[in-house]
Amino acid sequence: MDQTHRAAAFLDKGGTGKTTTVAHLGVALEQRGNDVLLIDLAGKQGDLAKHFGVWEDYQEEIEQDEAWPNISTVFDDAWGTIAEKLGEDPVADLVVETDEGVDLIPAHPGLDTLDSELGNIDDARQRYSRLEEFLDEYVDPLGYDVVLIDLPGMTNNVSYNGLWAAGHAITPVEMGPFEAEQADALRRDLEKIAANFEVEIELALVLPNKVDTRTNLAEEYLAAFQDEYPDAIAPDYVPYSQDIRNAAQRGMTAFALEEPSSTAEHAREAYLGAADTLVDRLGGEDDV
Ligand SMILES: Nc1ncnc2c1ncn2[C@@H]1O[C@H](COP(=O)(O)OP(=O)(O)OP(=O)(O)O)[C@@H](O)[C@H]1O
Ligand SMILES: [Mg+2]
Repeated sequence: MDQTHRAAAFLDKGGTGKTTTVAHLGVALEQRGNDVLLIDLAGKQGDLAKHFGVWEDYQEEIEQDEAWPNISTVFDDAWGTIAEKLGEDPVADLVVETDEGVDLIPAHPGLDTLDSELGNIDDARQRYSRLEEFLDEYVDPLGYDVVLIDLPGMTNNVSYNGLWAAGHAITPVEMGPFEAEQADALRRDLEKIAANFEVEIELALVLPNKVDTRTNLAEEYLAAFQDEYPDAIAPDYVPYSQDIRNAAQRGMTAFALEEPSSTAEHAREAYLGAADTLVDRLGGEDDV
């Protein structure tokens, strides 16, 4: 791909698998030959870095006051000046490499106050476009094929920045009535943003996650999601897999497991298929 594509994982609900999805889609995209950068805006607990086993080292840097600049610095009024002082490639100071090929900009405690700091910016466009400016000016020149952004499970100034910058949302959904309602609310939110700011944010990928097809209801919800999101639904669902949970706790994705269970195998295939679909959706506009 000759252009950097972006997508942000979002649903106004905790625990549906946003971080898991960003980690696995990132690795799947790498395996398909893309250069991938992941950005964690989801909060100071550093879940995405933990998922790749690089949080402990980063946390040490934070404790020693060496994690500067970091993801919260790029939202600062003074970022332009700071970046100039940092020299040729200011983003290099933010990025951590992982064993699974993806590059990562980890979370930082500075994200704690970011939502309220952004809230102090009067002009809504400026409030929501800080991340976009950073990506346009500093990340795009680095030539990544795909940038995936992990967002907090709530609608706030930080998640708006992520959606605004990405222009495409990835939404992992669990199978249930509440989840269907949440996904619908998301679609309405995206339409509202589009109407208010003339910024198109497309629902690029709806990925059914933690699916247990041994229950009949799961099949019903799967079918309902397929009907509801024919243009965004992933080709396959991600099954519930204890391996995914265990791998995450060991600081790796299911792709790094040497002896994956059948559910983990299925999950890998589903993520690879979802990655292909995502690339089609993100790249679609330039192909015409
Ligand atoms: N397909 C799956 N099978 C089994 N467990 C899963 C699966 N997907 C995610 N999980 C587990 O579910 C939990 C929540 O997932 P994750 O942290 O990715 O959700 P999240 O949406 O990022 O949550 P938060 O809103 O707290 O950031 C984690 O323990 C994760 O390992
Ligand atoms: Mg998360």
